[in-house]
Amino acid sequence: MVDSKKLLILVGSPRRAGNSATLAAAVQRGAEAAKIEVSLRFIDDSTSSFLRDCRQCRLPNGECAIEDNYRALFFDDFLPADGVVFCSPVYWYGLSAQTKVFFDRTFCYYSASYPDSAQVMAQMTRKRIGLVLASEETYPGASLGIVHQIQEYCRYTHSEFVGVVRGIGNSRSEVVQDPRDPSMAAEQLGREIFNRRYSDFRIDTERSGQVWPQDNG
Ligand SMILES: Cc1cc2nc3c(=O)[nH]c(=O)nc-3n(C[C@H](O)[C@H](O)[C@H](O)COP(=O)(O)O)c2cc1C
Repeated sequence: MVDSKKLLILVGSPRRAGNSATLAAAVQRGAEAAKIEVSLRFIDDSTSSFLRDCRQCRLPNGECAIEDNYRALFFDDFLPADGVVFCSPVYWYGLSAQTKVFFDRTFCYYSASYPDSAQVMAQMTRKRIGLVLASEETYPGASLGIVHQIQEYCRYTHSEFVGVVRGIGNSRSEVVQDPRDPSMAAEQLGREIFNRRYSDFRIDTERSGQVWPQDNG
């Protein structure tokens, strides 16, 4: 591998041949073309429950007692990743429950009652994050709540929110017919996830006044 960075693609749809999965496969193709180490997981392969009240279900050793494979997804795939692309259908103008539960259950391990929470918190920060959405409706407002949520997640975790792709479709894989070609944009996101230019200024940020290298020829 030329680039040793790791990318995790998390798919939050129940449909294995659905639109989020189709776009996720495009992200994967792009990442592989850039020689990035990439893995793709369907969140509901590993999650069978919402977050519960930790006081009721945390084991004496601090571990979460929910019996599914979320722990492995979180520790083996998510924490070591340098970048994560969340691929979700738009459900009721929000993330799918599958995707949301992934975020909610991080709490089991970064909350102070988990013995290694400091280490977990450190590993949750400073990732590159991408967002890929599939929806039936085309109007821009349908995805704004989700974009805002991921933006806040990135701010909270000192992560870099490097791109959003939105594909339109309803029946399985119909997104490939979207004339704006979201598959190409998803592939590009995968290819560029670690080197796409990212900036988020404050009033006092020092900057040169030019964004791109100038062609002086
Ligand atoms: C429960 C449910 C809620 C949905 N809510 C919306 C919505 O609010 N806006 C929208 O544009 N599409 C909505 N859709 C349509 C899906 O976003 C669309 O079919 C998408 O392509 C599904 O992605 P998938 O194939 O990855 O599951 C909804 C679909 C379901 C099943």
